[in-house]
Amino acid sequence: MSTATARAYPNIALVKYWGKRDEQQMLPAAGSMSMTLDAFPTTTTVRLLDEPAAGSSSSDHGDVFVLNGDPDTGSAARRTSLFLDHVRDLAGSDRPARVDSHNEAPTGAGLASSAAGFAALALAASRAYGLDLDPRELSRLARRGSGSATRSIMPGYALWHAGTDDATSFAEPVLPDGARMPELRLVIVTVDGRPKAVSSREAMRLTAATSPFYDAWIDATAQALDEMVAACAREDVEAIGRITESHALRMHAVIASTTPPVRYLAPASIAVFDEAAALRRRGMVAWATADAGPNVCVLTTPADAEQVAAAVAGHGQVRIVGPGPGATVVDPTEQTQQEDA
Ligand code: PMV
Repeated sequence: MSTATARAYPNIALVKYWGKRDEQQMLPAAGSMSMTLDAFPTTTTVRLLDEPAAGSSSSDHGDVFVLNGDPDTGSAARRTSLFLDHVRDLAGSDRPARVDSHNEAPTGAGLASSAAGFAALALAASRAYGLDLDPRELSRLARRGSGSATRSIMPGYALWHAGTDDATSFAEPVLPDGARMPELRLVIVTVDGRPKAVSSREAMRLTAATSPFYDAWIDATAQALDEMVAACAREDVEAIGRITESHALRMHAVIASTTPPVRYLAPASIAVFDEAAALRRRGMVAWATADAGPNVCVLTTPADAEQVAAAVAGHGQVRIVGPGPGATVVDPTEQTQQEDA
């Protein structure tokens, strides 16, 4: 096969990945855990070319990258080509490719569009280059594009093992087959849809290099992950929420402790954290988290989701999402379906 289309969804980490032990191999300093969403998919088609694309240069290895219908020659195109090099290495091919990607999330706004993007690209590219990878191998491949993409290969709730080398750093379902997760929802509050000023890659590097709290953060993450897996296994929604929120605030604290400091949360983001606390005082399940951007997700239950969404609606655009599918191969002619909130 020389053409393949795949779809993948973003994920929101409940225990965050923030810091690498090996930048070359994209190995994280600690494990993490996330919910793959049922909204904002990326659909990507990879088509192998017989010769370098017209107008392509050596920096893009003869590849073409088209994002939402517009040809891209910037950093996203370079990252895509570097990623395709991994696939070409695995497949023993040197053919360039055309990549068409359609992304339904606001790119770069902390909604982990790179996770969906590289998970879809890993699956589409591996198929187009004739590889038949199992989910674990796909998740290892997606990791080379973007750390959080490791988890978007998996449906529902994914645990990314930090591992010690390429073979041991992959994602799998948090709980063993047959074990039940509690029913959870995330209320996504998009307080600002613009791309973030400092990339997560750059800010992660800065955190490891300059924060006096970095080692403590990594130790705390490993501990939070153990507690989170135990809380999931006993379907303890309160504990899942408590760990999610305190871990997110720790991540933003360690990011703010860099030189120079980086701050992703905006006043409206903090207001959503405060709103979650107010909702809890009224007896509702509401725990806030935010990735590397100002947008906030409030973790709640299906029963409380509508009320939580109504309470935070004043702070930004709101959408209720739940656990979604893993990366799948799709028919390229199929239209993506996006329901409005
Ligand atoms: O892999 P990246 O560069 O998308 O980094 C993701 C970092 C966070 O979204 C903040 C946390 C996480 O675990 O997804």
